[in-house]
Formats: sequence, structure tokens, C-alpha cells
Amino acid sequence: MIEPRTNRNLALELLRVTEAGALAAAPLQGRGNKVAADQRAVEAIRSAMAAVDMKGTVVIGEGEKDEAPMLYFGEQIGNGLEPEVDVAVDPIEGTSLTASGLPGAISVVALAERGSMFTTHVHYMQKLVVGRRARGVIDLEMPVAWNLRRIAKAEGLPVQELTVVVLERDRNQQVVAQIRDVGARIKLITAGDVAGALEAALETRSGIHCMMGSGGATEGVLAACAIKTIGGDMQAKLFFHDEKERQVAVKEGHDPNKVLHLDDLCSGKDIFFAATGITSGELLKGVRYEDVYAYTQSMVLRSASGTMRIVDAYHPIDKLRAKGLLPEQVATP
Ligand code: FBP
Repeated sequence: MIEPRTNRNLALELLRVTEAGALAAAPLQGRGNKVAADQRAVEAIRSAMAAVDMKGTVVIGEGEKDEAPMLYFGEQIGNGLEPEVDVAVDPIEGTSLTASGLPGAISVVALAERGSMFTTHVHYMQKLVVGRRARGVIDLEMPVAWNLRRIAKAEGLPVQELTVVVLERDRNQQVVAQIRDVGARIKLITAGDVAGALEAALETRSGIHCMMGSGGATEGVLAACAIKTIGGDMQAKLFFHDEKERQVAVKEGHDPNKVLHLDDLCSGKDIFFAATGITSGELLKGVRYEDVYAYTQSMVLRSASGTMRIVDAYHPIDKLRAKGLLPEQVATP
């Protein structure tokens, strides 16, 4: 267990970290330059993390897959004091959404005890996420129709009234076709499957019952950290485009065919998760500038207590300017 007194600090400080990431990215909303937005968010997260009482190691991050400015695997973050923690981070989850000003981009970080998070350089995972009512009824190895019928039964709904969120990708076309065959409703998202997974887990907040299809591996670990706190269920399996990618998993010591359950993705008992909206979505409102304030909305989760906090914050614009989080002018990309 992470020492309790430090716990409280971590919960609040993590919120400030993702707020900084979102506030730094927000000025580039819709400006068409996802690398510049990511760069700003990475720098803001790195510097906000440096003030946190922790000896953090980034065990899974995102820059590698997208060749984006990154918090790299193995990077030490925090001020070096105890506790020692694993960190999963995505400064902008939905860089393309941010660059186009589309809904659903968030800044997100999770922490847990050192050595408790799943780590891999494989880029993708197949995922199946449901809410609390359907916990224990899913099986990633079984067909889509089998799962949807069991989820519908657990939800007390006809299968046509289920809504399934799927990341719109060629590799997910088969899943989409199978969902359509069963007759369930679909919400296709162009990016942002951490938010998609949380919507499925928090069905009463979103009206989404399930997430299916493959997305990023980092996003899978981040989602699992949150789902362990808010309830719901998740199974995942590494997804490979070819044998070379499969060999990456084998060399890392993973069984490439293993179905990963929540505890495989994060075995921690003391997990912290924070996410702040960059652009407004169903999960969180995005950054807004109102009069003398910049507004943010965040979700903060702490597994030891099971608390979910939704935090509205108003940040004085003049102070953000002084910190460089809101430049007078952002260079045209
Ligand atoms: P980033 O914005 O962090 O790059 O990720 C967006 C995202 O859509 C994730 O939500 C998803 O898991 C992943 O990318 C899917 O990867 P790809 O776009 O390569 O299919």
C-alpha cells in the first residue's frame, strides 16, 4: 500500500497535473497542429509532475506509437520522494480531436504502486468494457453476439437497446459488422477510447453499455486503472498487425494470446486516476475561457476509498499567462 498520508496529496496533485495538461493544450484547439498541442501538454505535465511528492516511473506512455513528443518509457518523474509509483500517462488523449476542435479530448494520468501496471511496447489491444451491471458476464474469447446477448440480459434490456462504442478503424470493421448483425446500436468514435471505455463503465452517466474493438495499449491500461475504481469490467488482449509485433510481446515475456483481466492490467490496490477535459465530450466538459477565468472540468478517482470526484475549477487567466499556460499569442502552425 502507498503510505496513507501521501495518498491524499497524490489525489489532489494529480488533478493539478491533468488540469495543467489540458490548459496547455487548449489554446491550440482547432489549429490543425496536433504535434504542437501535444508538445505543450507534455511540457506542462512534466513540469507539474516535478512538483508531486513521488518517485514515479513512466511504465506505459504514448509517444512512441505516434512518434509524438513524449514522456518516454522509463522516464523518472515526480520530485524523487517516496512513494515509488508506476505512471501511465497520455498528456492529450485525442490529439487529432484537439487539433480539429472535435469533442472528447482529455488529458489523463494514472498512478499505482511500483510494479503493478501492465507494461508493453506493443501498440494495440483488443478491448471489451462494460458497466457494473454486466461485470463478470463477458468473455473476450467468445463471439460479439454471445457477449452482447449476455450484456443485454445483465442490463435488463433487449439487445437492440444496447449502445456500443467502437473506435472507427479498418481493423474494427468486423466487430462493427457483427454488432450490426445482432442489432445493437453503435456509437463510432474517431479517437479517444479512454473516454469511450469510461463512458461504458459509467453507463448511467453516458447511456453507453459497452466498448468493443481495438485501440491503444496505453489507453487500455489507463482505462483499467479507472475502471478498477468506478466498477464495471474490462478484458483486453494484445493486438498484432504482424509476426514482428507479436515477437515484441514474446520478448517482453508476455503470453501473446492471454486474455488480460483488470488485475492483469493493474494489480494495484492504491490507484489514482485523473482526467481533465480539453474539448467537451460526454464524459467531461472541455476548457473554456470565461471573462477572467479559464474553466476546467476533471474527474479524479482514488481506488482505496472508491471516490469519484468531478471537479469544476476556475483558473485566473492572468495567472495562467504568467505560468505560460495561456500565451498571449500562439504561433500559427
Ligand atoms: P492520441 O490522441 O493519444 O494519439 O490517441 C488517440 C487514440 O484514438 C486513442 O484513443 C486510441 O486508443 C488510439 O489513438 C488508437 O490508435 P490509432 O489511431 O493508431 O488507431
